[in-house]
Amino acid sequence: MIYLNGEFMPIEHAKISVLDRGFIFGDGVYEVVPTYSRRPFRLAEHLARLQTSLDAIRLANPNTNAKWSELVGRIIAGNPWEDQNVYLQITRGVARRDHAFPTGLKPTVFLMATELVTPSAELLKTGARAIVLPDFRWLRCDIKSTSLLGNCMLRTQAAEAGCTEAILVREGELTEASASNVFVVKNGTVLAPPKSHLILPGITYDVVLEILRGNAIPHEVRPVRESELRSADEVWVTSSSREVLPITTLDGKPVGPGKPGPVGLRVHALYQQYKAQVMRAPVHA
Ligand code: PDD
Repeated sequence: MIYLNGEFMPIEHAKISVLDRGFIFGDGVYEVVPTYSRRPFRLAEHLARLQTSLDAIRLANPNTNAKWSELVGRIIAGNPWEDQNVYLQITRGVARRDHAFPTGLKPTVFLMATELVTPSAELLKTGARAIVLPDFRWLRCDIKSTSLLGNCMLRTQAAEAGCTEAILVREGELTEASASNVFVVKNGTVLAPPKSHLILPGITYDVVLEILRGNAIPHEVRPVRESELRSADEVWVTSSSREVLPITTLDGKPVGPGKPGPVGLRVHALYQQYKAQVMRAPVHA
């Protein structure tokens, strides 16, 4: 079951206009909220980032957070999986094609869910493969926009190389990956690129930094050189669906000894612990 503009329906019944600015221009923003045992994880943070994206493209939020919460809850209840990715998207709505933002449109609001499948035990044991590519995307990667053609091109190139992710560098520095943030470990210190217009401020990235701080794991949030990425002892990617996934092959070469390293394994375990603890806590609005 999905939600479109005020109604719940089977996805096959959902229709939008060909003049929707989401279709014509990619003029919209989105969120993906991971949901475990039918409870959304860090919903308040996802809704806060949604507001930031909406503000950045000058689109009024069509719903209060209480209303978003209710819609997310109804989507979770209306779909069969215990663990879900709840996807929500707002576009500027339907208008005659003209680049400049028209005012006064009724935004298109869409929610759906898919099954959330986190990396398998097997993948976590071997780690995943990635390639390094130049980050040719625009300079507002902090906006969670549905205009993802650059990300799609980069991810496709990775897939064609037999890799799960494309790790991106711009002017000699690590930015992020095509659909995740990137952490590297060198000599026991975790390095993370700072938030800027060049990366999406990941909700998982924040959780990982909280874990690093809370457990006194040495870390630095600062620009990471491409050379540091390439000579790292460990590389991980983080996202709502991948959680903390070790990358053990970069451009066909092993990262460190070519298997998941101790810091990543520890952070992955702490992430699972944190998730379990949050999911056991009483529900509050
Ligand atoms: N992608 N960077 C990019 C470019 C992303 O697309 C994502 C997430 C992240 C990680 O953000 P978070 O930790 O909040 O999931 C970083 C989502 C899952 C997607 O587009 O499907």
